[in-house]
Amino acid sequence: MKLSKYYYLVLAGLLIISCKNNNENDLAISDDKTSSIDDKVATLLSKMTLEEKIGQMNQYNGFWDVTGPVPENGDQAKKYEHLRKGYVGSMLNVRGVKDVRAVQKIAVEETRLGIPLIIGFDVIHGYETLSPIPIAEAASWDLKAIKKSAEVAAKEASAAGINWTFAPMVDISRDARWGRVMEGAGEDTYLGSKIAVARVKGFQSDDLSTPFSIAACAKHFAAYGFAEAGRDYNTADVGTSTLYNVIFPPFKAAKDAGVRTFMNSFNELNGVPSTGDEYLQRDVLKGQWQFDGFVVSDWGSITEMIAHGHAENGKHAAELAVKAGSDMDMESYLYVEELAGLVNDGTVNIKDINDATSRILRVKFELGLFEDPYKYLDETREKEVIGSQEIHDAALDMAKKSIVLLKNENNILPLKKEGQKIALIGALASDKTSPLGSWRIAAKDSTAVSVLEGLNKYSGNTITYAKGADVSIGKTEFAFEVKINTSDKSDFNDAIKVAKKADVVVMVLGEHGFQSGEGRSRTDLGLPGVQQQLLEAVYKVNKNIVLVLNNGRPLTVTWADKNIPAIVEAWQLGTQSGNAIAQVLYGDYNPSGKLPMTFPRHVGQVPIYYNYKNTGRPTLPGEDIVFWSHYQDEKNTPLYAFGHGLSYTTFKYDNLKIENTFSENKTVTVSVDVTNTGELRGKEVVQLYIRDLFASITRPVKELKGFELVELDPNQTKTITLSLTQEELGFFNNQGLFIVEDGDFEVFVGGSSETVLTDKFKL
Ligand code: BGC
Repeated sequence: MKLSKYYYLVLAGLLIISCKNNNENDLAISDDKTSSIDDKVATLLSKMTLEEKIGQMNQYNGFWDVTGPVPENGDQAKKYEHLRKGYVGSMLNVRGVKDVRAVQKIAVEETRLGIPLIIGFDVIHGYETLSPIPIAEAASWDLKAIKKSAEVAAKEASAAGINWTFAPMVDISRDARWGRVMEGAGEDTYLGSKIAVARVKGFQSDDLSTPFSIAACAKHFAAYGFAEAGRDYNTADVGTSTLYNVIFPPFKAAKDAGVRTFMNSFNELNGVPSTGDEYLQRDVLKGQWQFDGFVVSDWGSITEMIAHGHAENGKHAAELAVKAGSDMDMESYLYVEELAGLVNDGTVNIKDINDATSRILRVKFELGLFEDPYKYLDETREKEVIGSQEIHDAALDMAKKSIVLLKNENNILPLKKEGQKIALIGALASDKTSPLGSWRIAAKDSTAVSVLEGLNKYSGNTITYAKGADVSIGKTEFAFEVKINTSDKSDFNDAIKVAKKADVVVMVLGEHGFQSGEGRSRTDLGLPGVQQQLLEAVYKVNKNIVLVLNNGRPLTVTWADKNIPAIVEAWQLGTQSGNAIAQVLYGDYNPSGKLPMTFPRHVGQVPIYYNYKNTGRPTLPGEDIVFWSHYQDEKNTPLYAFGHGLSYTTFKYDNLKIENTFSENKTVTVSVDVTNTGELRGKEVVQLYIRDLFASITRPVKELKGFELVELDPNQTKTITLSLTQEELGFFNNQGLFIVEDGDFEVFVGGSSETVLTDKFKL
């Protein structure tokens, strides 16, 4: 029998009333509209047993999806039993109205206090309809579009019963070997902070209590992106200056934007696993920054403190984590098993339990879960919203904006719409799963638009397709991992045949979507498998190649840069991938993306980033002297610089002006004229960098401190004005204090970090 949502609402209402009569469920204070949230939290807390408080701090993975190793003691029966007792505060990976209702109903209607669950899920770049992977979205430098993308993701996810996302990941990383660079905003703190704010605001909206917004989570606090050698979960060892000036700011920006939760990280930082790090969670986050939401551990990271060599056993791990300020235990089972004993024997102070529980309850109140625990559970909305046109349109818009034109010699792009013989080569060109990336638990296989489909849709050309070589040859035992083809070249000949007959060859090469993401570090940043050989084989018969890259991280496409006339960075663009790529290749959309991460020439240069320090022995371009900071066998410079990206039109920068009124109103104003000197309307990201020439703590050779996305018609000129305030001109010293020092500054303005105009001013 199918029951309508109204039936459930009525049933829920009746149950609440009957619970009121039968048990102590009147403590759920759902009708108390006048008290402040803090009062409501305090009232509820005063009625809770120790076990119920600890229950709020316990999060279980759902019974349907698993995103990490299943804990040995993870039996379902126990989870159900705990749910019924009110010993579970949150579940993750339970999704879809039917399944969420099943668990929410137990929490609300069967437990003594009826406290609703908060339902978490990794809504990283969409729910079922996927937008581009986060690093791709960052390449748009379009904060409005990024905010909208998060907003739309929240809309779709909340229609499936989700009310909390484990996003945004705001970890800065400079190491392309690390697979999770795909999940962040790249290497730069300034851009990363702006994007963190856009994403938090998009997910949460101005009103967390609407059923369309979900709580966000700034993760992974802290330094997870600095895993040594880019190997996931590895140790991070960073100095104070990097911690304060590079790693912390996007987290602080997310906090200031009102993010309601933080997730700690798997790594240790300077000898202490983040989950047990009191300095990070209590001193900095909850102390200095006054964060009043809650911190969730990463998956099993409380237990992992044993393997780190920091905790003696599970009990000790629970003690360290709770004392350090980790409020919720994701899948370690240790809070629920150990905390009551630790409080009763006096090892853990009840104050820490009360604090953690209050923080979690506060967010539940803010979400409006007490007023209506079933507010996200509406089958009609679920059917109407998931996969709706509005969500696909937003995904397509974001995908186009995320594409970066890396190279375009002789204007080989855009392609002609008629009368051009186009050969399309590469297994990824027809792949409908890879563009979804690896964070795609709720998306179905083969639901992305392929490049082959896109190219056919947007033109009258005849496209001849040959895959050339498989990229993946099946899955490993783990469902979300593929085996890469490293030897089979048997399809090369077909590709060579179609290439010979074509006017232009479009080759879609790169990483499969499952080659980047969590646990997917690489030592080789080249094209995986036999794709480089395929590219060179095709090049021998036709040099008119447009290389479309699919990847979750910067790649060392050094040979391609030297030989291939056009290169388009198309990342993993999500559900609408092929449509977006086709629109860009045919010139229906003029690309404007800029790299949020430096592309190295060689993996040996990694970590490579634009805002490096000068050193005492800087190498000048063209110099090749032994005792200077350089490599014997490779340049210091990148293949493609941070901020690089071309358009089908061109831009000219001139008339750079600096107005220094810092002593009066604490602002330095920089203005520049930008002119569209080409023949097409186009967008440009105007970038402003500074260099503080000498300081008590040395400053990078360049730091991004402002940008603006401007759209111009041919021959149109606009004056762009950007401000440098204390916030942009100062830095954190090694005591963690923010200071602004007098002295000489250089200013650089242009369309990439390899900028065109420069001038100086004095503070
Ligand atoms: C990841 C987190 C993620 C969590 C839940 C962990 O393995 O590190 O980023 O949110 O799993 O899926």
